Amino acid sequence: MKHNFDQVHNRKGTYCTQWDYIQDRFGKKDLIPFSISDTDFTVPVQVYEKLQNVLQHQIYGYSRWNHDDFKGSIKNYYHKRFEVNINKDWVIYSHSVMYSVSLLLRLLCNKEGKVAAFSPMYDAFFNVIRDNKFELEEIHLIESEGKYTIDFAEFENKIKQCNVLLLCSPHNPTGRVWIKKELELIVYICKKHNVKIISDEIHGDVVMPGNKHTPMLAYHNEYDEIYLVSSGSKTFNYPGLIGSYAIVPNKKIYEDFLAQTRRKDFLNSVSILGMYATMVSYNECDYYINQLVEYVDNNMNYVEKFIKDNFKQVKFTKPESTYLAWIDCRDLPFTCDEIQDALINVGGVGIMKGEVYGAEKYLRLNCGCPLEKLKEGLSRMKKSIDYLYDFKK
Ligand SMILES: Cc1ncc(COP(=O)(O)O)c(C=O)c1O
Repeated sequence: MKHNFDQVHNRKGTYCTQWDYIQDRFGKKDLIPFSISDTDFTVPVQVYEKLQNVLQHQIYGYSRWNHDDFKGSIKNYYHKRFEVNINKDWVIYSHSVMYSVSLLLRLLCNKEGKVAAFSPMYDAFFNVIRDNKFELEEIHLIESEGKYTIDFAEFENKIKQCNVLLLCSPHNPTGRVWIKKELELIVYICKKHNVKIISDEIHGDVVMPGNKHTPMLAYHNEYDEIYLVSSGSKTFNYPGLIGSYAIVPNKKIYEDFLAQTRRKDFLNSVSILGMYATMVSYNECDYYINQLVEYVDNNMNYVEKFIKDNFKQVKFTKPESTYLAWIDCRDLPFTCDEIQDALINVGGVGIMKGEVYGAEKYLRLNCGCPLEKLKEGLSRMKKSIDYLYDFKK
């Protein structure tokens, strides 16, 4: 089966955040957006057909997720895709990944908890830590020639005083896929200092050729304070259907999680569309992931060549994972504001600025789109930067 990732679809007028609400992020309408991380691709045909089937029933009553079909689809997925064995009774439905992160942080930390996270980081990590009134311990990744690594001496030094490590694996925005050696060290050091690990693995499927994602739960036999949160929503592009899951081997935390969602937050009923989408995509759509990865990898090749051919002072290293291009503009002789202003007002393009993720003068370009859109976006980026050079002459 071949999915058509080249097809351009008009998403305008669908209330979608990326296109219809671009003004909220960039202060201007009608930009071409490369911002929020959903894709412009349709879902796998199997998901679409199942949803049609569900909709045709015309009764959308309260529904449950706590059955073998839902939990088993996730258990089997981790086995077939990552060779990791999980127990289906560790699986818990959650409306969103960040809801799970937020709740787990509250369940795992005491009131004055300290939470470590690697920076640059996914912007919602800043909020979820600070808005829950925990202290953030930022651990800066080391960048060398576009590759990000962990300084483990600094990591150990900082993690000692923390309750939880909030890990993004693979890492948004840098695209790093943590290799086994790194994960083993993280687990070893966290265990030594009694630091719990929440691993956000929502980007675990879109992993470029030559890299391999290892779910943190591969280490649950070594350390029983590992919590995994994820969703098929990023890979298969159905965040609008609502649905994600946490994998929680710790019985007490599992029960606490359920109690909070059922009796305090009243999020008992599953989104039936999200649940069906998860089951079908995890059971039947490996082909889609493989083709998506190939497509995104080609898009990244295009970005790499375009930047090399057109910009002397912009650097880009293809990411190991994610459909997000992390572009280094630190050598450009313009300020962050000047760059953003030109992108918006000269190029008419919405590209996320690095500051949002804690890194100055980077751009995060969403390449989860047809190549045609990407080409247009990059040529608008060129127009913007060329304008700045001309203007500064
Ligand atoms: C690392 C990471 N976690 C979580 C999310 C959002 O997931 P959800 O919408 O299910 O909260 C994103 C979306 O960009 C993400 O990049």
